[in-house]
Amino acid sequence: MRKVFRVVCGLFTTRIRGGSGFRLFNKVRVQGHDNCIELLESYHCRNNRVIIHGSHNHITINGSSVINTLIEVRGDHTSFSIGLGGIIRRAQILLRDNGSSIAIGKQFDSGIGLEIAAMEGASISIGDDCLLSNNCIITNSDAHSIYIDEIRVNRAKDIKIGNHVWFGRNAVVLKGASVADGDIIGHSAICTGGEYAPDYVYAGNPAKSIKKITKWDSVCE
Ligand SMILES: CC(C)(COP(=O)(O)OP(=O)(O)OC[C@H]1O[C@@H](n2cnc3c(N)ncnc32)[C@H](O)[C@@H]1OP(=O)(O)O)[C@@H](O)C(=O)NCCC(=O)NCCS
Repeated sequence: MRKVFRVVCGLFTTRIRGGSGFRLFNKVRVQGHDNCIELLESYHCRNNRVIIHGSHNHITINGSSVINTLIEVRGDHTSFSIGLGGIIRRAQILLRDNGSSIAIGKQFDSGIGLEIAAMEGASISIGDDCLLSNNCIITNSDAHSIYIDEIRVNRAKDIKIGNHVWFGRNAVVLKGASVADGDIIGHSAICTGGEYAPDYVYAGNPAKSIKKITKWDSVCE
């Protein structure tokens, strides 16, 4: 049976499941109750800061490396997960507001400076085998409100990124964008929302399709 480690923060408890050394190599600060950090398979986590302000939040790192990263949760019932074989370095993973979620699939590979922010209860999902260059940003909320006649016109919207997607350096994905399988998002391109067709290269601001492709490969021949 898997061991369950309990971290006592004041009067409240957080469960760290499966990660005997996690507290030694990472800083964990929690205010709230019934939060869970679950570490599965042969995960590798070093020099991360995990800050949780809220309750019933769930972080799952499943056989991935997460290094020098800030995971900050402010809200209840949020979740962050990353699947097998991934790597995240010098990133910021931000979950704000109740019910927000970030789910990353298997074999995720991100350069430094990645920022993923899920807010207002909306979700961000990223498929398997995605490759992100340095300083990419994925955010499903504007983080501030815009009104027309007292009606909020810029609510957060879910973001979906398919399988085998490659982001060039500084690529940005904003609320409501749905990037399809096999896409390439070019250097400094901004995906501003809506549906992106599969197996296309998109570039520019706002990102437009520049060519249809058969496939892309992470290895240069
Ligand atoms: C998107 C990208 C892959 C396209 O490469 P490509 O298929 O060889 O495209 P081309 O160079 O033939 O450019 C096609 C057109 O798109 C435009 N374009 C290409 N990349 C662009 C970009 N990032 N932003 C705006 N326009 C771009 C070109 O100016 C050209 O326009 P034109 O037809 O009017 O002359 C490449 O430009 C890119 O951005 N690569 C990412 C580099 C990177 O960040 N690498 C980090 C390592 S992971």
